[in-house]
Amino acid sequence: MTPTASPTKVRGETILSVDNLVKHFPITQGVLFKKQVGAVKAVDGVSFELRRGETLGVVGESGCGKSTLARLLMRLEKPTAGRATLEGKDLFRSSGAELRRLRRNMQMVMQDPYTSLNPRMTVGDIIGEPFDIHPEAAPKGSKRRRVQELLDVVGLNPEHVNRYPHQFSGGQRQRIGIARALALRPEIIVCDEPVSALDVSIQAQVINLLEQLQDEFGLSYIFIAHDLSVVRHISDRVAVMYLGKIAEIGTEQEIYERATHPYTQALLSAVPVPDPDARDDRKIIRLTGDVPSPADPPSGCRFRTRCWKAQDICATKEPHAVLRAADPHPSACHFAEVRPAA
Ligand SMILES: Nc1ncnc2c1ncn2[C@@H]1O[C@H](COP(=O)(O)OP(=O)(O)OP(=O)(O)O)[C@@H](O)[C@H]1O
Ligand code: SF4
Ligand SMILES: [Mg+2]
Repeated sequence: MTPTASPTKVRGETILSVDNLVKHFPITQGVLFKKQVGAVKAVDGVSFELRRGETLGVVGESGCGKSTLARLLMRLEKPTAGRATLEGKDLFRSSGAELRRLRRNMQMVMQDPYTSLNPRMTVGDIIGEPFDIHPEAAPKGSKRRRVQELLDVVGLNPEHVNRYPHQFSGGQRQRIGIARALALRPEIIVCDEPVSALDVSIQAQVINLLEQLQDEFGLSYIFIAHDLSVVRHISDRVAVMYLGKIAEIGTEQEIYERATHPYTQALLSAVPVPDPDARDDRKIIRLTGDVPSPADPPSGCRFRTRCWKAQDICATKEPHAVLRAADPHPSACHFAEVRPAA
């Protein structure tokens, strides 16, 4: 397989730009005459840029809208509002040949390698399926060879092309999912918790494979995870989400060493630290209370019901993630500041 990146495509330039993306799922009542009585604000004004060749980690607790964001970008859900521009083209308003081209360029790896592969299809059929939808990607008669190349690229035996998913381990199945995502030579892969269902020992192997493929094919990743410790190794930048919004976004160093949002600081304080001296130096911030319902988020700052720094203004004025002179990266907090070492 030849790498995708062409010399005219500059590493670091913006490949995907997301502007104020919103997805509200209506809550309805009534059987015959359905009436909307509210909305689950799953994604509620998310903006970011993805740069060519980088990995953007997206982290947040369950239900904060990570998968909905991924599904919107894959056009599996229709946005309520907002824009996304892929390679300068409007992702949500494209149609016909242009939409096919954009879709081909952005693929997804799912969380659960046990349920995301059809058990009745052979591995060859699973990996080759994208070629049925985009026959232009595999010249006539070359499909089997292309599938075998893909198996080889992800570290599986090309001779296992006729086997079924149950004949593979979890890690191997996720490699099959990655091979399928690579088939159409996309430039962007959205990975929705690709290692969460795997044993810890296998997680590192799959992450290493993703990194190796990124270098080889010039890929850009959106890498979704629950947990800040999983994304650190792979991410160039990290976005921390809370209740449908980005709380803080920055480079790997800005987030892990100079986080300014209390939510990020709380998540970081719970990340296991291997060095016992460093462990003694830090104070764990215990978040109290449950995550509020996205159908009825708190006024002002959505994190205020669990924030130890909350003041009156936090209930009345929404903090926006803007660059401030004091903070080198955007943080949606009225009182954003680096947490002093304990
Ligand atoms: N099709 C849908 N209809 C109604 N509500 C939905 C739908 N899909 C998601 N939601 C709601 O939107 C919110 C965000 O869900 P989402 O799956 O995006 O979260 P997540 O961050 O991926 O969580 P997890 O870490 O558990 O995967 C949740 O409250 C969820 O119940
Ligand atoms: S704006 Fe207020 S409630 Fe929100 S994170 Fe900052 S201090 Fe906490
Ligand atoms: Mg999810």
